Amino acid sequence: MSRTIPDLPRVSLIRRPTPLVEATGLGAAVGLDGLMVKREDLSGFAMGGNKPRQLEVIVADARAAGADTLITTAAVQSNFCQATAAAAAHMGWGCVLLLRGRADTPAQGNLLLDHIYGAKLEFLETQDPYDPVIPDRLAAAAEAVRAGGGHPHIIHLPGRTGALAAAAATDQATELSLQFADLDRPPAALYLAVGSGLTAAGLILGFKHLGVATRVVGVSVQQQTSFLKPLVVDRANAAAVLLGIDTRLNEQDFDLTDEFIGTGYGIPSPASLDAIAVAGRHGAFVVDPSYSGKALAGLIEHGRQGRWTGKPQVVFLHTGGTASLFAQADAVAQHLAVTRARVA
Ligand SMILES: Cc1ncc(COP(=O)(O)O)c(C=O)c1O
Repeated sequence: MSRTIPDLPRVSLIRRPTPLVEATGLGAAVGLDGLMVKREDLSGFAMGGNKPRQLEVIVADARAAGADTLITTAAVQSNFCQATAAAAAHMGWGCVLLLRGRADTPAQGNLLLDHIYGAKLEFLETQDPYDPVIPDRLAAAAEAVRAGGGHPHIIHLPGRTGALAAAAATDQATELSLQFADLDRPPAALYLAVGSGLTAAGLILGFKHLGVATRVVGVSVQQQTSFLKPLVVDRANAAAVLLGIDTRLNEQDFDLTDEFIGTGYGIPSPASLDAIAVAGRHGAFVVDPSYSGKALAGLIEHGRQGRWTGKPQVVFLHTGGTASLFAQADAVAQHLAVTRARVA
């Protein structure tokens, strides 16, 4: 590897490298020879997934600013909020989570873990992550922490923290490029779930900077491609500036599909529920209906269409999300009961 990517200061949360494993049984079941899974869900911190790697940098940034309380916001079953609460507990800090959802949401899945990690929870009526009310509520929460003598640090991904998180995700590109060097050929493609686009932004930027030829295929779980693609490019390029590297992304550098969102964000789709069953039965790993299940559904469908036939292997980046599965246990169980024969 001729080029490297400078890293930002980190606190150590995860175990590196996360495993890159062959998924022979799953590959055979879905017609993708040589399918591999990058098990970021097994990163060894909290419930794993793509968030702890980013939080290593975000928490280091907060510590440098003298923080002792993390404040952030996302949907009520957010994996990011759960990982932030765990990171705050790990540091011995406080944590305030502003969760989009109803205050009477049952304490299951990530919400249960938020309680276990000792976060203080507030609920927001809106479902829109870009609702203009959110910055005001974050500022009010920070003011309340200050009034109690604490030192709040707001993690709001549309803002500065976004560039940090995307920059932090380039670390995964470095790690994968080293793992790919052990293979006969670099994989043809890597699939991952895309929400805010920060993980994809860092990964694609990192691959481009390092000259990794593997094509990244993002599977949107919420936003339309026309909105999300330029956002990923902007986020990657903000990260590049932060890292001080000269590589810049454009929209031709990656693929992004919005065909697997289903009815909407956080709502299990038949294809994501099928993917849960297939991954469990043939891959012995667990995906969730909102993120990793939708990404895997995209990979399976593209495999069926023959998009990767005759090409080197495909990698599924398992970005975690397992805890949210348990908040949707009924939908998953019902689907399994109906489709057991089909995925056996
Ligand atoms: C399990 C899981 N996978 C993928 C993503 C998408 O990551 P990003 O928001 O960086 O696009 C998220 C984001 O919340 C997630 O929780």
